[in-house]
Amino acid sequence: MAITNVGVLGCGLMGAGVAQVSAAAGFKTVVLEVNADVLEKGLGRIEKFLTDGVAKGKVTEETKTAVLGHLSGTTSYADLKGCDLVIEAIVENVEAKKHAYAQIEAVVGAHCLIASNTSSLCITELAAGTTRPDKVGGLHFFNPVPLMKLVEVIRALSTSQETHEALVGFARAIGKEPIAAPDRGGFIVNRLLVPYLLDAVRCLEEGLGTVEDIDKGMRLGCGYPMGPFTLLDFVGLDTTYYIANIMFEEFRETRFAPPPLLKRMVLAGHLGKKSGRGFYSY
Ligand code: 3HC
Repeated sequence: MAITNVGVLGCGLMGAGVAQVSAAAGFKTVVLEVNADVLEKGLGRIEKFLTDGVAKGKVTEETKTAVLGHLSGTTSYADLKGCDLVIEAIVENVEAKKHAYAQIEAVVGAHCLIASNTSSLCITELAAGTTRPDKVGGLHFFNPVPLMKLVEVIRALSTSQETHEALVGFARAIGKEPIAAPDRGGFIVNRLLVPYLLDAVRCLEEGLGTVEDIDKGMRLGCGYPMGPFTLLDFVGLDTTYYIANIMFEEFRETRFAPPPLLKRMVLAGHLGKKSGRGFYSY
């Protein structure tokens, strides 16, 4: 199954990263957003990453030009025509995703694969809402996408072996390390990461240590690149809260239940880095 033209739905934090790595690997990539303003902001994010990369000596001017040359933006689904693979990275809402898939299917060919970057929704449910459940799977990227090497390749109950292999091949082609993950809430990484982050909040609630000391403990004691509160602020408290709730619903295990402090911080709008305030101020 040859993939040359890639569509990316959503040019937010994750979608922009996915579009960037796809274009950087030489795939003709078109990224779709809901309106011109959001699209411009997303494309600006990609350009800034590349410009910063040049300044750091990590990216050459030629590479930057080549990446941007392989990339185009659109607000029209019609421009996804000709795609061999569409990666969806829109809002984590089943109905919104199903609606988007119907619009993709209206323009792409029968061979086109659809992959969701969802971090927690059921891939089998998303696949079942399409007319090509055998050609739908999950490609779960990690933030920041251009720097994190891992991609979880998720197989829905209906995903064909051919589709799964094509998605694994694509992940490798964009320079990532794929791992096969089951279609279970949180897949592999969030299954382990989310309870750890929630536990850190519980430890804070119990007065085990300060935010700074708990972070320092995990950074310097375990070699983690970020302590749990820095990571929570980085991922977004609302995102973590949302994923935890889905996992709690799926497994009914208390380790996935969001602690009261997390819920209240989300309600107060202390969402982390993106809102200027989380466990730290920015
Ligand atoms: N262009 C090219 N390269 C760049 C770059 C750019 N614009 N910016 C940074 N880099 C390179 C750096 O040069 C460096 O390369 P080197 O290792 O070869 O020297 C590397 O990327 C790391 O960058 P920095 O040194 O500037 O930054 P840090 O060392 O502080 O690392 C980090 C930043 C990679 C984000 C690190 O802190 C980290 O790994 N944090 C944890 C992130 C994490 O856990 N993410 C997963 C979140 S969970 C998730 O996404 C799943 C979802 O479902 C919730």
